[in-house]
Amino acid sequence: MHLGFWKNLAKPIIGLSPMDGVSDAPFRFITAKYGKPSLHITEFTNVEALNHGAVKALSAFLYDEMERPVVAQIYGVSPEAFYKATIVAAELGFDGIDINMGCPSKAVSGNGAGAGLIRTPALAQQIIRSCQQAVQDWSNGKTMYEAGIHRDIIDYIESLQNGKIPDTSNASAAPHQPNQAISARSCLPFTPKRQLLPISVKTRIGYDRPVTEEWIKTLLECQPANISLHGRTLKQMYSGEADWNEIAKAARLVHQSNYGATILGNGDIKSVADAHRRITETGVDGVLIGRASFGDPWIFDQNRQPRSIKEKLQTAIEHAEKYEEIFGQNPRIFAAMKKHLGWYCSGFNNAKELRLKLMTANSATEVKNLIKEHGHI
Ligand SMILES: Cc1cc2nc3c(=O)[nH]c(=O)nc-3n(C[C@H](O)[C@H](O)[C@H](O)COP(=O)(O)O)c2cc1C
Repeated sequence: MHLGFWKNLAKPIIGLSPMDGVSDAPFRFITAKYGKPSLHITEFTNVEALNHGAVKALSAFLYDEMERPVVAQIYGVSPEAFYKATIVAAELGFDGIDINMGCPSKAVSGNGAGAGLIRTPALAQQIIRSCQQAVQDWSNGKTMYEAGIHRDIIDYIESLQNGKIPDTSNASAAPHQPNQAISARSCLPFTPKRQLLPISVKTRIGYDRPVTEEWIKTLLECQPANISLHGRTLKQMYSGEADWNEIAKAARLVHQSNYGATILGNGDIKSVADAHRRITETGVDGVLIGRASFGDPWIFDQNRQPRSIKEKLQTAIEHAEKYEEIFGQNPRIFAAMKKHLGWYCSGFNNAKELRLKLMTANSATEVKNLIKEHGHI
């Protein structure tokens, strides 16, 4: 067990929740700059894909130094693939590795990964131990070659470490070309410090019914550095309300375990005030905020001031520019930026009209022109 950065985080901890398709490198850059959450967690990345050399999967692992502490989230079912993915994340310079045991989507949990692991506790424990073994071995000097990492992944990481743009021209069609994404790194070349990295888990309170106490005890036997707990079962997906009474039960167990682990509650937090109330009521060390950060990177700011429309829309433009800087100028790729534009565009006169116009934009320049035409900047 190693607590790493978790033990030094100022409390209460208010972090950005990992969100596939949302909390990518440009979004995390913007939240780091304007909201300064206590930590950032990447979108999840499939360990089996990394194991097969899918370089494109590494685009989820881009980050900026500003995001530290920054944690790589991984998912899958194979303990061996988790071992290798942990070494990959360590080589990329992350501050920690988080195991996803909470994703309810059929594509993930149907294979036994994500929240599917709640039903296979022995495998869940094996996976945690495998990641812990990987950071132990890596801190003792194990190389990517010795760990059996796929050659394409090694080439990509070594290029980055040497400050070069990796040549991914032979990689299968990537939704986000990592070679363009290199600009997301603010410190190239780099040498990761071989240190023990903390392994954490993000999960839910149960599969089809809450089994919080039994499940949290199972996890604690492996001594993860942190547990982030979404107060819904897999079956609930995102419906109903998160059950913070279950989260309070988990908080008691984590703190009784006495080895210094932290617990973050998660689900339906809409503001810092909301976060403080839940922390006081349940005894968690902090929270993760997910959906309430859509179009609102300032949400983590404890001294938050109301933002003018102009400021919101200028941030939307900056976000779009960062998106292109990282993922390149390509209308097909830019399509994934549009949901963010829609989120920034709410709560003011004619917001709907502008939102509809922005859905036609294919580049940051077009976004800027449309916002100007609309008379907001
Ligand atoms: C679009 C979307 C993508 C998500 N992707 C992930 C993910 O990759 N990893 C993860 O652990 N949770 C993921 N989640 C779950 C969130 O991290 C969080 O647990 C959930 O949204 C509840 O928190 P909230 O009410 O603050 O949004 C995702 C949620 C959403 C809405």
